[in-house]
Amino acid sequence: MRELNVGLGERSYPILIQYGLMDRIGEELHKNSFAKRYGIVADDNVAGLFGERLLTSLQKSNIQAEIITFPRGEESKNLATIAELSSTLARRGFDRKDGLLALGGGVTGDITGFLAACYMRSIPFAQVPTTLLAQVDSSVGGKTGVDIPEGKNLVGAFYQPKAVFIDSQVLQDLPPSELLNGLAEVIKYGIIYDRDFFSFLEMSSKNILALDLQVLEDVIARCCKIKAAVVETDEKESDLRRILNFGHTIGHAVEAVSGYRLAHGSAVAMGMAAAAELAVLKGILNPREKQRMVNLLQEFGLPVAIPAEYDRNKIQELLLADKKTIGGRVFFVLPTTIGKVIITDEIETEMSTKVL
Ligand SMILES: NC(=O)c1ccc[n+]([C@@H]2O[C@H](COP(=O)([O-])OP(=O)(O)OC[C@H]3O[C@@H](n4cnc5c(N)ncnc54)[C@H](O)[C@@H]3O)[C@@H](O)[C@H]2O)c1
Ligand SMILES: [Zn+2]
Repeated sequence: MRELNVGLGERSYPILIQYGLMDRIGEELHKNSFAKRYGIVADDNVAGLFGERLLTSLQKSNIQAEIITFPRGEESKNLATIAELSSTLARRGFDRKDGLLALGGGVTGDITGFLAACYMRSIPFAQVPTTLLAQVDSSVGGKTGVDIPEGKNLVGAFYQPKAVFIDSQVLQDLPPSELLNGLAEVIKYGIIYDRDFFSFLEMSSKNILALDLQVLEDVIARCCKIKAAVVETDEKESDLRRILNFGHTIGHAVEAVSGYRLAHGSAVAMGMAAAAELAVLKGILNPREKQRMVNLLQEFGLPVAIPAEYDRNKIQELLLADKKTIGGRVFFVLPTTIGKVIITDEIETEMSTKVL
């Protein structure tokens, strides 16, 4: 088993990574229990896949637990679901000594974390991420929240979990399109933070795509380590944490223009390629480095060109409306080499128009 730590003083927590960990979470929780009783929150799909396994693991260690479900999909990530789940917890008598386990992808993690932050003015929770995206990104760092009609993730809280339990085995069940979503974020970490990791991805792409779980476990651990390091330095995104938005500024705009039909990972891949091109135009990135980035994205089967039918003016408008825009300036995270990025608002509209 690999064990990492997110160092945030009193709110520090471990990330445990192991093949088959799902069946051992009971033992781990028994050693470091944080609640009297656990509500396992999962979407209806993941509840069917892994709910019983997790429940059995807890029961074997004499831990009281029960499953609470909601309908799968981003459509559930809203305040109505929070209200509904809060009522379920109250009806089932959950109190401040109880806690939650978020079993599922990023949608479940974001919902459960926010529910835990709000229910009875906060109860503890842990993450059991089951998509690659959740294992390398959303389960670590304490960002929780839901969507409102006006925008995604606009209501939420910074609320750290007590632990993150990652079982690489569950990825065997993951549809290839969901794996790809996570891989876009994986490549992101290499570009923003870790040149050696990027080279490792270039060498290991075939094994990763063949779902070699040994290699994937390495990948997950490297990504969690990077995310933990970034979050430890800047928990609430005042500075360094913004580098995690690499590819997301343009990516979010492209996602919105597609009417959210485009997968997040695909939009981010296009956003990363566009940001790299911006950096080349600005003269801060060697075109050969950009080509390596584009090659790796393509090697994994991710798209790098924004479809011609997407309205460029609309994308520009959305860039300005992005919630991370500060005082009318759009901030871009641009690579200066593989493994390093800068944050700049010095991008003329003509330049971004040209890239788009
Ligand atoms: N909090 C953060 O820091 C953060 C970071 C990135 C993304 N997010 C959020 O994460 C969400 C996206 O997460 P996601 O891509 O994991 O989506 P998701 O949670 O909807 O999961 C995708 C689908 O995969 C299914 N699934 C989950 N695990 C499975 C498995 N092992 N086998 C088979 N099917 C499985 C789910 O039922 C779902 O249908 C978005 O709402 C996004 O805003 C949050
Ligand atoms: Zn993302």
